[in-house]
Amino acid sequence: MASAPGRVNLLGEHTDYQGGFVLPTAIPQRATVGLGRNGTPSHVLYSANLEKTLRVPVGEVGTEFAPYLTGCLKLSGVMEGLNVHITSEVPSGGLSSSAALEVATLRALRELYSLELNDVDLALRGVQVEHEFVGVMCGVMDQMASSLADTRTLLLIDTRSLERRAVPLPAGAEVLVLDSGVPRRLAESGYNERRAQVEEASRLLGVKELRDVTDISTVETLPSPLKERARHVVSENSRVLVGLEADAVIFGGLMNATHASLRDDYAVSHPLVDDLVGLLEAHPDVFGARITGAGFGGAVVALVREGTAAAVGAAVLAAYGTLGRVVVP
Ligand code: GLA
Repeated sequence: MASAPGRVNLLGEHTDYQGGFVLPTAIPQRATVGLGRNGTPSHVLYSANLEKTLRVPVGEVGTEFAPYLTGCLKLSGVMEGLNVHITSEVPSGGLSSSAALEVATLRALRELYSLELNDVDLALRGVQVEHEFVGVMCGVMDQMASSLADTRTLLLIDTRSLERRAVPLPAGAEVLVLDSGVPRRLAESGYNERRAQVEEASRLLGVKELRDVTDISTVETLPSPLKERARHVVSENSRVLVGLEADAVIFGGLMNATHASLRDDYAVSHPLVDDLVGLLEAHPDVFGARITGAGFGGAVVALVREGTAAAVGAAVLAAYGTLGRVVVP
């Protein structure tokens, strides 16, 4: 058995597939995976959350939640039938529930087969599962955070070199995460489209990755929407670096700026999420707030005065409810 946490990202969104910087932390909620040999030619995959069993012949990928697991098994060279039991406390929608599942599965496989796999290689194998089996061309942040971050500090990751260092949370602050209740629709196709757009932007700018843009005004030469997409990535990279030295007030201001950039330039927010972020930003105990993760709905993160997270969360959610706006599924 093994487990792994979800993550929440405070600064550095949509930078990790352009060689940029990210600043996530682990959350207390974890995915847990138990596995063992079943002596048959099929894997028997059980999700306790979905109360569902899938049977997948060894060597095949399967559907629904199976690819997250069979991808890990195939890339780890498993040639025999396994029973795999998964359960997760990590909510879906911006908190890396899939990376937590992959990292927990790979940790359990490392244990069962005594695999020589360090924590970075394990994370990169999780990323490969997403690319080759799930079809999301994600960056390395989520699996790196799930594999290497803790819940007490932020983990600065240079996603180009994979160098990393623990960074303390600004003094006098704590992290609050709220679910906007907006289901993430078209997140996978939108995500892959954004990635293709910034790859095109870096090609047109003649740089390897947008990490290498040193003068942000050069992005203004690009046609829309590549200009806006690139402006987000380049400005977001600087926000992470400024955030490393910032106190809570400045750090919060950077988070607000990230939200505006994700909403206006990267176009991955949603009107209801903007409402929730607006309510948070207006609260006196909130330093800053923004959508977190890939976007298109899901979770928001706020930096709040230490000791106030529960009260702020309750007050803001009550106000959010009285806005009376309806999510159309
Ligand atoms: C998803 C991806 C990450 C990262 C974020 C956006 O969580 O899995 O690699 O790109 O979106 O920052």
